Amino acid sequence: MFASTLISPKTALPDDLFGAIADLKRELNAVILAHYYQDADIQDIADYLGDSLALSQQAAKTDADVIVFAGVHFMAETAKILNPNKLVLLPDLAAGCSLADSCPPDEFAAFRAKYPDHLVISYINCTAAIKAMSDIICTSANAVKIVQQIPADQPIIFAPDRNLGKYVMAQTGRDMVLWQGSCMVHETFSEKKLVQLQIQYPDAEAIAHPECEPSILRHANYIGSTTALLNYIQHSQSQSFIVATEPGIIHQMEKAAPHKRFIPSPPLSNCACNECPHMRLNTLEKLYLCMKHRTPEITLPDAVQQAALKPMQRMLAMSA
Ligand code: 13P
Ligand code: SF4
Repeated sequence: MFASTLISPKTALPDDLFGAIADLKRELNAVILAHYYQDADIQDIADYLGDSLALSQQAAKTDADVIVFAGVHFMAETAKILNPNKLVLLPDLAAGCSLADSCPPDEFAAFRAKYPDHLVISYINCTAAIKAMSDIICTSANAVKIVQQIPADQPIIFAPDRNLGKYVMAQTGRDMVLWQGSCMVHETFSEKKLVQLQIQYPDAEAIAHPECEPSILRHANYIGSTTALLNYIQHSQSQSFIVATEPGIIHQMEKAAPHKRFIPSPPLSNCACNECPHMRLNTLEKLYLCMKHRTPEITLPDAVQQAALKPMQRMLAMSA
């Protein structure tokens, strides 16, 4: 979808990338927001790490002039929706999201038109064009809380993640019309291998992100957003955990609970496909280059930005 950032062999990089990024941060009055699925060195240099809700809340209140978003395109786009007059940089413009791609705006407009009396709640993992067609945005951290605030007789469309949608339906007892999208990473976990690990490590707790398939979620001792999972492992009495989400978060789990053990839940095939290929396009080198050259930047048509802002503001108000 978007062209990837190329690092030419001739591009001069400083020996001390961490120091050079810190200098650029001061020069630009920039803030670096990073998601837990980023490489460990990016997590280590970020000003704020968080799940999509926490990162949106940080983006909404930052007084920095420049937001450097170490995450995927829809996250940086969300920061731009909240800050139309700030420069928002994404280290690699090709860092997309299979879940956002699974909901093309023209097809979603036709789908929505079939349910004119339905309220549209969209998971934040969608494009700005989908946000602009939505009434309220939610994240994995607040989806249940937001749906619980909607009057019981109000029919709802939930898009684009069918797995999060099913999970919210089970938690709230609400029926919702679901868009059938999914995340290529969270779909890849093997139920058989997870159960084998539970047999091998009977004291380990399985923890999972609600983007996982129901076949994985039914074996989980705890389900939550990335931040919720990180909090859970710190407060649980258990000493080991089988982690069914992108393994980038294990870096923070090991920092937060160095004496505990974290076992990544394996994918179906013998690949590294539980690592998000989009998130992992960002590197420390590209982070440095995007700050040095102030590009690639996120831009949005005014009409889309303004229409997408309203459901974002509703979400922030309903999460307070
Ligand atoms: P959260 O960090 O908000 O739980 O979302 C996970 C995710 O898939 C981000 O793309
Ligand atoms: Fe998108 Fe899935 Fe990657 Fe999250 S993990 S950015 S939902 S493809």
